[in-house]
Amino acid sequence: MASNVIAFGLAIALLVSSSEALRILVFFPLYSKSHSILGHGVVNRLLEAGHEVVHITSFPREKSVANLTELSLEETGKQWKAAKANDETYKIKNLVGKGNFGDSIFFVYFTYEIHKAIFSAPELVEFLKDPSQKFDAVILEWFFSDVIAGIAPLFQCPLIWFGSTEAHWQTLKLIDEVPNPSYNVDIFSVSRTPLGFWERTVELYTMIKKMIILSVIFTPLEKSLYSDVFPSIAAAKGLTMPTYNEAIYNGSFIFFNSHPSIGTPFRLPQSAKYIAGYHIDSKVKPLPKDLQKLMDEAKHGVIYFSMGSNWKSVDMSDNMQTSLFNMFAKLKQTVIWKFEEDMEKVPANVHLVKWAPQQAILAHPNLKFFITHGGQLSTTEAIHFGVPVIGIPIAGDQYVNMQSVTNKGFGLTVTLAEDMADHIYEAIQKMLGSTAYKTKAKELSFIYHNRNQKPGDELVFWVEHVVATGGAKHLKSPALSVPCYQKMYLDVLAVLAAVLFIAFKLIKRVVRKEKSSKGKKEKTK
Ligand SMILES: *[C@@H]1O[C@H](CO)[C@@H](O)[C@H](O)[C@H]1NC(C)=O
Repeated sequence: MASNVIAFGLAIALLVSSSEALRILVFFPLYSKSHSILGHGVVNRLLEAGHEVVHITSFPREKSVANLTELSLEETGKQWKAAKANDETYKIKNLVGKGNFGDSIFFVYFTYEIHKAIFSAPELVEFLKDPSQKFDAVILEWFFSDVIAGIAPLFQCPLIWFGSTEAHWQTLKLIDEVPNPSYNVDIFSVSRTPLGFWERTVELYTMIKKMIILSVIFTPLEKSLYSDVFPSIAAAKGLTMPTYNEAIYNGSFIFFNSHPSIGTPFRLPQSAKYIAGYHIDSKVKPLPKDLQKLMDEAKHGVIYFSMGSNWKSVDMSDNMQTSLFNMFAKLKQTVIWKFEEDMEKVPANVHLVKWAPQQAILAHPNLKFFITHGGQLSTTEAIHFGVPVIGIPIAGDQYVNMQSVTNKGFGLTVTLAEDMADHIYEAIQKMLGSTAYKTKAKELSFIYHNRNQKPGDELVFWVEHVVATGGAKHLKSPALSVPCYQKMYLDVLAVLAAVLFIAFKLIKRVVRKEKSSKGKKEKTK
């Protein structure tokens, strides 16, 4: 009996030691709820796999969790936000008719400022200096700034990037190469492949323009931030930093929060994977009782309306709010609207919630469709649960996402405008009148779920693989070390041109000699 127990204990001990727990640093510092959901998703999957995690986040959890340490940057985030908050620019009412503010030089500078603020947080600097902190890998969220790559050399461990959007040239260049713009669009482009003549021209122009802006303005700023932040921390640990370029091109792997079912199947190198949906728990938390009852009893179905966590419905103009309320009042369906304040006169069929358990709402069979700002998390969750969408993109990749949704046929796009209520009403009527959108959403949902591995398991597998192979050098794209002029064979062309030039000169000389000697002969005759 006792020997059995010992054998059992030994077997367990062997099992545990054979899949050794890793210690991973997860760096998702942005003061943005949706980005933090992606960070918490990474952390959850790693914890479930038995690993230990240190999470740098601006949204720490309420309860502590085993094997998890959080370094909160909430205060820095809040201060930074407060400095910007008097600036009303980002409220919905002020973004109407402004186009995509993500697609501007200003945005590039904005992302630099965010990272500068993050690295000036004393608690972060102290943590990075702490010699007792050791990691097997760091996972860093890339947000239009490469400078964070300096974190990996401080812990002498592999760097794993995380791209919160579809794959695009600014992230692909870090692990592979700048892809061909004739079939790889910019992250802020609304063109979808296959591109026409004009679209291809615009993509090429956009890319060249951005490359110039980045190399003239942004990269020098980043390099100086890099040398302001990292060498002193490294010195405190007795290390020397690699150069900025060595650091940013040394990533072992990249995860993309996208999937061909929702985005475009852009070609990826071996060191990259699409893992959209990994953040969704396998068991959806049940709805709160009142919402459960409301959704169960909605005879004509439910429409769910949320503009996400960054854009608040309270920040719409009064006129926009009133017209939306009036429009919803005309419907038979029950409307659940994520609205951050109490309102007095709300139509009987409209139910306001300050916070929406989005996944549970999307999972309810009585849900007809989802009216969204088209953020990547919202469109992913819609496909996860097979729900069609009406999207009102505001900024960033929401335009790209909604363009994909519309092209794929599981939704409709409405332009953000003061009078958008009428257009939303038209879209609602279109969607209520046709089963095509729902059918398409279900079909894409099947494709999304039909994978050889669940996205969360895939994430864990590749993190473990990178660590187990000491940085997965065998996956490193050979394209990474080939300079652009060699890819375009400019050196070969130069040699060819030189050879042709010399040959031409030689032939010319020979011909001239020949002529002049002939001339001499004729004279002597
Ligand atoms: C690059 O990454 C590898 C693998 O993680 C690591 O061993 C190496 O020290 C890194 N090199 C630089 C220059 O950071």
